[in-house]
Amino acid sequence: MSIRFDEAARTWHLSGPDLSYVVGLQGGLPRQLHWGPAVPDEAIASLAVEWREAYSWDDRVHTGAELLGELGPQFATPSLQLRHPDGAKGFAWNYADHTVEESAADGDHLAIRFTDRDLALTLHYRLWDTGVLDRWASLEAASPVELSRFDSAAWTLPHWGDYRLSHLSGEWAAEWQLRRVPLPVGETAIGSRRGGTSHQANPWVAVDDGTATETAGTVYSTNLAWSGSWRVLLRRSAQGRVSITGGAGHEGLRWTLREGETWTTPVYSGLFTAEGFGGASRAWHEHLRRHVMPTPEEDAPVLFNSWEAVFFDVAEEKQLPLVKLAARIGCEQFVVDDGWFGKRVNDNAGLGDWWPNPDRFPEGLGPLIDAVHETGMKFGIWVEPEMVNPDSDLYRAHPDWVLHQAGRDRTERRQQLVLDYGRPEVAAWAFAWLDELLSGNDIDYVKWDHNRPWTEVGRPDSADPDRAWFEHVEAVYSIKERLRAKHPNVRIEGCAGGGGRVDPGMLRYVDQVWTSDNTDAGDRVNIQYGFGQAYPARAMDTWITDEPSGFNQRTTSLRFRFHVASAGVLAVGGSLTEWSEAELEEAAEHVAHYKRLRPVVQHGVHYRLGDPETSPLTGVQYVRGDQIAVLAFKTPWHCNRPVAPLRPEGIAADSRWLDEDTGDVHWGATLNVLGLPLRWANADWDSAILRLRRVE
Ligand code: DGJ
Repeated sequence: MSIRFDEAARTWHLSGPDLSYVVGLQGGLPRQLHWGPAVPDEAIASLAVEWREAYSWDDRVHTGAELLGELGPQFATPSLQLRHPDGAKGFAWNYADHTVEESAADGDHLAIRFTDRDLALTLHYRLWDTGVLDRWASLEAASPVELSRFDSAAWTLPHWGDYRLSHLSGEWAAEWQLRRVPLPVGETAIGSRRGGTSHQANPWVAVDDGTATETAGTVYSTNLAWSGSWRVLLRRSAQGRVSITGGAGHEGLRWTLREGETWTTPVYSGLFTAEGFGGASRAWHEHLRRHVMPTPEEDAPVLFNSWEAVFFDVAEEKQLPLVKLAARIGCEQFVVDDGWFGKRVNDNAGLGDWWPNPDRFPEGLGPLIDAVHETGMKFGIWVEPEMVNPDSDLYRAHPDWVLHQAGRDRTERRQQLVLDYGRPEVAAWAFAWLDELLSGNDIDYVKWDHNRPWTEVGRPDSADPDRAWFEHVEAVYSIKERLRAKHPNVRIEGCAGGGGRVDPGMLRYVDQVWTSDNTDAGDRVNIQYGFGQAYPARAMDTWITDEPSGFNQRTTSLRFRFHVASAGVLAVGGSLTEWSEAELEEAAEHVAHYKRLRPVVQHGVHYRLGDPETSPLTGVQYVRGDQIAVLAFKTPWHCNRPVAPLRPEGIAADSRWLDEDTGDVHWGATLNVLGLPLRWANADWDSAILRLRRVE
């Protein structure tokens, strides 16, 4: 990684393995001159002509802009929208200076500073060894200015004949659906106005020219490190140029930057890769594990979670039999879910009252924690610290602590309201009780949930109420960061009614995330396929639960459910007390088998074999050193849909592979030509796991 500045040409060249990003000043404006394959320094001057010679005047103005502006003939939706007290809008770019901070561990950091009136706007760049380029911006105000949009960065794509957008959308219990659609001329906005990242859309997007495949072709992708409302806007001009602008917040917000204040946007990362969609995913996984997630090198334990086993019927005497059985089948961590505190016997009451329910835990949590630890398992606990039921002591004492607006109804969802963490006293309260919970009990793991979108966001006694959208998210980050610092052995699971708050911002503070409340293994094949586009298996919690599934009444075998759940961080969430001896024994075998696969699945390089949208046969292949694990799934199919065998990726023809379960040895050539020797019947909802080790 290096950053080279050409003083005469005013260009900055960030170069990494096989890639270059070049930003330069043209007519005083910062412009992206190139983002893609590596270019020699000597060629940079010739790259600078592209925007000047663009056929379309509109493209000349908008294409290459590092942030889309609002002065002069700029008509695209701006990345930065501001208004001075005298009514003047926009930012006129006057280059001031730049700095480069070198850091072998963190990638070099380039900051280019511009000034206009009382403002200083800095564009920030950090290119990582993974090929990911982090970009963000900061605005320093010497006198107040009103902001209504401040994106982190705008990106420009190469001039192609066509463009295709890949993105992840869905809803509760159906997150992570990959959509791959032509990008229309005009503006395409995806985002969240819900306060959290959302189940409906994830900030990861990818664009190719319509020809990239899983294994080949150029793909540009971006992801935003922000766990609140957000917007990514892709603009395709009539002449066929595409730019993407993205950042925190949704349109319609206004807030004032105070005198002397600096506003820093979240990081918006971009990735260029020439190895298709699979290559893009692998680079994101590697990046998140190497530079974002807090404990990626640890083996995440197999956990048991009580939610689907008992729902709200949580009590010490009902948990103890589950503890025994969870330990017996090989679980390594026992997590008590919702229902252990206050008057929380259903979702109508008690959120906010964070002390053990004395009817359910007469002597507090201690006896259950001890019982769990005696089995050798770790102990985890569910919390939802950002929410309150109106029927709670907390709300009765502090009705003004929730996000609300004067004279407006407080819309409830799941009978709860959202606490306003932007109020220092609320954030202090949250940190204090969480800290006390962790200090006073031997807790190893916290599942931090967030179960409703925000409505009527505001703070009647504040002159700047829209700040609440940002301040809350920052406070959540800060509380998690401080808890981690004070309780370094505690691990945190991020959850939001399933996978409603997963993004690179949250992954900095949590060790793993709950993928979806939908635990039906059939649906999970698709859900996990989508999740893996952007996020690694080490972050993906995958439970095996009872059948038939409560989501669609589907029945699949224990083996299929375990195999699907073994593709991430395995967890068990079934009513173990109702399982037969035979089921418990089979479960113990699956858990033991998972532990043998775990290092490869959690820390390996991930390849997708087949697309569940188009093929009933799919698999995931993980590669770590000389080991390979393949988890393969067969969904219902018809005789008129011929299917090819699943073939491995990246195996040399002259290599030899030992099947660790059968002892058979296979030539790489045979695997590549004939496909993987999966041991399965020709049945619907069948599955197989293959472990291969390279031999001489
Ligand atoms: C939503 C989560 O996704 C579930 O796993 C469970 O923790 C419930 N909340 C509890 O209310």
